[in-house]
Amino acid sequence: AEEVKHGWFVGSIDQGTTSSRFLIFNGEGDPVASHQIEFENLYPKSGWHEHEPMGLLSSVEECIEEAMRKFSELGYSKADIRSIGITNQRETTVVWDSNTGEPLCNAVVWPDTRTKALVRELKSREDADTLTELCGLPLSTYPSSVKLLWLIENVDSVKQAYEEGRLAFGTVDSWLIYRLNGGAQAEYPVHVTDSTNASRTMFMNLRTLQYDDRLLKFFRIDKTKIKLPKIVPSSDPKCFGKVASGALAGVPIAGCLGDQSSALVGQCGFSPGQAKNTYGTGCFLLYNVGTEPVISKYGLLATVAYDFGHGRKPVYALEGSIAVAGAGVKFLMNNLGFVDESSKITELAESVEDNGGVVFVTAFSGLFAPYWIDNAKGTLFGITQHTSKGHIARATLEATCYQTKAILDAMEKDSNHKLESLAVDGGLSNSDLCMQTQADISGIRVDRPAMRETTALGAAIAAGLATGVWKELEDLKEVNQNGRKVFSPKIEAATANKLFAKWEQAVEMSRGWVT
Ligand code: G3P
Repeated sequence: AEEVKHGWFVGSIDQGTTSSRFLIFNGEGDPVASHQIEFENLYPKSGWHEHEPMGLLSSVEECIEEAMRKFSELGYSKADIRSIGITNQRETTVVWDSNTGEPLCNAVVWPDTRTKALVRELKSREDADTLTELCGLPLSTYPSSVKLLWLIENVDSVKQAYEEGRLAFGTVDSWLIYRLNGGAQAEYPVHVTDSTNASRTMFMNLRTLQYDDRLLKFFRIDKTKIKLPKIVPSSDPKCFGKVASGALAGVPIAGCLGDQSSALVGQCGFSPGQAKNTYGTGCFLLYNVGTEPVISKYGLLATVAYDFGHGRKPVYALEGSIAVAGAGVKFLMNNLGFVDESSKITELAESVEDNGGVVFVTAFSGLFAPYWIDNAKGTLFGITQHTSKGHIARATLEATCYQTKAILDAMEKDSNHKLESLAVDGGLSNSDLCMQTQADISGIRVDRPAMRETTALGAAIAAGLATGVWKELEDLKEVNQNGRKVFSPKIEAATANKLFAKWEQAVEMSRGWVT
């Protein structure tokens, strides 16, 4: 039998919108053990989207226990794990009582649009135009700021905790780190976030990487009444504490990155001009712009790509965020019963030659980048007696590809640089049809790695860098380079442009449907 190599491994918690995972990577960046759990998403009203904070935590803890069991079956033990990293769905807003460590209500998940009216009110204020320059994000229902303000103004238990100075706020990273460290019972409760996650709240100044009083004031947040997480770099051996109990008790948490930043790191997109697109529940394209932020003029977000601290300058990205990608497939499966497994959607889409004239604007949370139309609704165009499930499945996959194309166009204008190749990952990137469609519609090469757990890998890299598994980014050059598959455009640019023009027309027509 092969001799078991005991060495340094790094663990990674990946807490996403529909599932939680824990993976253990070796020093080559290969996963050796993992476990994944899908959990329930709650949609209590139209436009509302919630998670149970305790459910998120227990799904993570269960993944850790299971993956550690598999790890020990391979002959390894906790002592082989040098540190762990955390990566998470961003913007999702959790509030808890700082005295007890218990959540005050369900988390408001990032695509939730209950804040629509509040956003309209805030947008009408004179100083609303100054925000993007400070924090990089346009005012919309997407960031945490409006979700937190809504909770304070509409949920009694949250309002009361705020008035009594025991309201703690955090994105999912903060919540998990706090609880994994033992919560309120810990000797020193750990309430932190990293600058990539903080850059999604609208409370952080993109240049100082600290809270900005002008931003807090705009969102009516009195910082003397609320406990905000301390903003720290994404990679650090001390700031994030250590796991208090369970199979990883005593193991340091040394890395933390919002999931989209983490995927860029996992794709080793460390040079300006590199980009990645992750097709998860939503789809997020991040383009590395280097050590100075670029504020978009064309509907993209400016965000922190990663911040590895220790004298290294933070690196920024331009981001194109699409709210619905895999969520569209889940909709066809769960709401319309088209398939019984998400992976079968490609087969269904392949049952027809083309979309048969059907365009599906999957605007379930309005439309995000680069359009930012918060009153758009999901709209199907071009239905005839000829339309089949296959056409609708194809149109659902195409919707993400068209929005990616619109984002690439905006990125080209903002950066004066035309991308030639796009690194991809995430669930929908498993679909060859979807990736070929992406290459065809956008006219660039689509480059897919064999190991697609890049999001988890990124957080492992952040943790491994902080704890000496890797010393410098240079040491990561070989990571995840094997077995990449490239999809090249196969249709004429003129044909692609015609299809895209149809999509843009459909986007315009999906506006303003009042229910
Ligand atoms: O901004 C939301 C994003 O972080 C969620 O990612 O992979 O769960 O769609 P995902």
